[in-house]
Amino acid sequence: MSKIAFLNSKFINFKNAKVHIEDRGLQFADSVYEVIAVFNHDLIDLDFHLKRLRYSLKELDIKYKINQKYLNKIFLTLLKKNKIVNGIIYLQITRGIQYREHKYGNNLIPTLIIYTRNKKFNLPGKNFIGVNTITFEDLRWKRRDIKTVNLLPNVIAANKAKKMRAYEAILIQKGKITEGTSSNIWIIKKNNLITHPANSDILKGVTRSSLLKIIKKTSLKLIEKKFTYKQLLDADEVFLTSSGSFITPILKVDKNKINNGEIGNNTLKLAQMYSKSFMNG
Ligand code: PDD
Repeated sequence: MSKIAFLNSKFINFKNAKVHIEDRGLQFADSVYEVIAVFNHDLIDLDFHLKRLRYSLKELDIKYKINQKYLNKIFLTLLKKNKIVNGIIYLQITRGIQYREHKYGNNLIPTLIIYTRNKKFNLPGKNFIGVNTITFEDLRWKRRDIKTVNLLPNVIAANKAKKMRAYEAILIQKGKITEGTSSNIWIIKKNNLITHPANSDILKGVTRSSLLKIIKKTSLKLIEKKFTYKQLLDADEVFLTSSGSFITPILKVDKNKINNGEIGNNTLKLAQMYSKSFMNG
């Protein structure tokens, strides 16, 4: 749990960490965020996260200047205060507080929210698991490359998955797989590793970017191309990636087993290589 949070410029008790009723994050989802994995006290892929955060802020014209040193100090202090060894850091920046009007003023002071949570990660080893998924229509807007808290379509799909006792909902747009509600989706067919191109139809995942580097060290051929529901079901292996789930095998899509419901060798290998990239020794 998070005992202490950081709000604007102060460390405060988590229970007292509250934002104003006219914060634009609350009224318009006028806000961006990042979820950063912490493993063994280390922040995973922090540079990628901050680069994406800068991009999201710029695309939405939210005038918050990222100071990496300042944020890093807050992150480390929070991890220490909350005694987090493995977990996540949640960071959100809203445009700020203003009387409710769609049009925003130029001098708003952005709201900065940071807190932590404990988390157990799905890592290769004896407790490594694969998950079931469902598919659901992608109901989102056209700028999914911006990591905003405008997440209601994701919430609807994720709760449909929950109802069906599935871990994740895979989103489909015009017959093509885009991504999961909070993950990127990958399929392996023969030697080809296929994932949706990083354009405005998906979020360019940090875990996705890290994995792209790792793939270069394997014999798999990376293809960044849209794929269909049929290709998804016909795949030899399927997996998802995210900062919360790292590389997690997918064993079922709707009622269809993938790889006979077993974790595939390529997925396992990639998960091992990925975890090695941040585990010491
Ligand atoms: N979600 N696609 C979407 C829509 C996501 O929300 C996420 C992450 C990803 C994977 O991105 P990354 O590898 O950078 O975590 C892809 C976070 C974890 C969340 O909303 O909780």
